[in-house]
Amino acid sequence: MSEADLVKSAVEARHRAYAPYSKFPVGAALLAKDGRVFTGCNVENASYGLTVCAERVALLKAVSEGASQFAALAVACGIGFCAPCGACRQVLAEFAPDLKVIMADGEGRVWRETTLAALLPESFGPKDLCP
Ligand code: THU
Repeated sequence: MSEADLVKSAVEARHRAYAPYSKFPVGAALLAKDGRVFTGCNVENASYGLTVCAERVALLKAVSEGASQFAALAVACGIGFCAPCGACRQVLAEFAPDLKVIMADGEGRVWRETTLAALLPESFGPKDLCP
């Protein structure tokens, strides 16, 4: 799948966000190395703290479907871009320390491209527990 198509999937997923409290819908699309794409949107909760970000929804869907190696993640926010939060960086790093991260706005315009390693340097991960 092309980068443009991955961003398009994230934009589409954003439309399915459940964000009545923040009114900040986010979409994500995660490209597995086997070619499959898993999308996610933020799912908020009246208790607030149980909200799950779009990126983690995509990752958990992917892992639960048997994917465990990932090449790229596209994230789509509203105006401008947003980077994955710290919790999502940590959860993504468990499976994909070398992940490419593409940040786009709600129209699919790409603002920034980076890597998870750049976003979460010197991360704690499986290598620390199973050297
Ligand atoms: N959110 C995401 O889904 N991903 C991000 O990268 C940043 C924040 C969500 C969580 C919450 O539903 C809303 O955006 C506002 O923080």
